[in-house]
Amino acid sequence: MIKLLSHLSYVAITSPDVEASVDFYEKQVGLTVVDRVDGAVYLRCWGDYYRYSVVVLPGDEPSLATMAWRTSSPEALEEAVKRIEASGVSGEWFDGVSIGRAYRFTGPWGHSMTLHWEVERHQAPGNVASIFPDRPEKRSTVAGAPRQLDHVTVATSDVDAFAAWYNEVLGFRIMARTVLDEAPISVFSVLTTNEKSHDLGVVLDGSSRAGRVNHYAFWVDTREELLIAADVLMEHGTPIEYGPSIHGIGEQNFLYYREPSSLRIELNTGGYRNYVPDWTPNTWKPSLGSNNLYRNGAMPLSMTESFPPADGPSATEEGVPDEIKDALLNPYAVQGRG
Ligand SMILES: [Fe+2]
Repeated sequence: MIKLLSHLSYVAITSPDVEASVDFYEKQVGLTVVDRVDGAVYLRCWGDYYRYSVVVLPGDEPSLATMAWRTSSPEALEEAVKRIEASGVSGEWFDGVSIGRAYRFTGPWGHSMTLHWEVERHQAPGNVASIFPDRPEKRSTVAGAPRQLDHVTVATSDVDAFAAWYNEVLGFRIMARTVLDEAPISVFSVLTTNEKSHDLGVVLDGSSRAGRVNHYAFWVDTREELLIAADVLMEHGTPIEYGPSIHGIGEQNFLYYREPSSLRIELNTGGYRNYVPDWTPNTWKPSLGSNNLYRNGAMPLSMTESFPPADGPSATEEGVPDEIKDALLNPYAVQGRG
């Protein structure tokens, strides 16, 4: 198979209060607004090469409207569409904002994905044009602002089947997965189109609501910037949900927080690069520190929430079975593990 996809290019999310979300991204994250079209706000990180990487759309609930990948060539776009349709899934062509002719489909587990080859490269206005030729724009003046969009992690009822479909149809490499210590249940997997440990993650969703997202992530250059970003959020009164710490899988430094819609955002830096074309994914257990390399910081219950909220009385109940919840939340409690 030719290489079909090159990297995650943008995420479009919905927010019940677009202006509150946009204000948060501008002041606390350090993104800038580049366009407003029909109620949608287009934002970018200072180091994104294309015009935008985040789109905030009005919606009743926080959700992932679509996740977009740039293909490796115009031919790769045609080939990807052929493969998607041969798998029995059909989408539609449309003309996107600054991405030309693009194809959008809903995957087997309900996630909208957009594929495109054409892009509009960012042209920085004079006052923020960088003195360095490779930089699309000057470094942000907001402390700890991310350089680029990094990855998106969705939620699905069958982690391994999800990974297999995106591997077989679109060529994502499966890099790792987490299976519970207590039972043969896959709760997490990471996939990539490039040398990063993942640009697509997937967590187990015990709810009956398809197409949900757990979080999306930005990249900062250094751990120091990640810590400064955490400081900036704390000074603004924005709670840190989990971290700063280091993931076992991927080995990135991580930090999770929520934007005003309640959607979860992650910051990442560090970790390995992996170019092995025939990589065999390893299986982790939570007790090995898949989430937390130091095996000393259990994930808070709130991290099991995905978006939009599942039907049910409590957002934190979410349909995650108790055995899974217990295993995820306190993976280091059982004696003799490790
Ligand atoms: Fe992540």
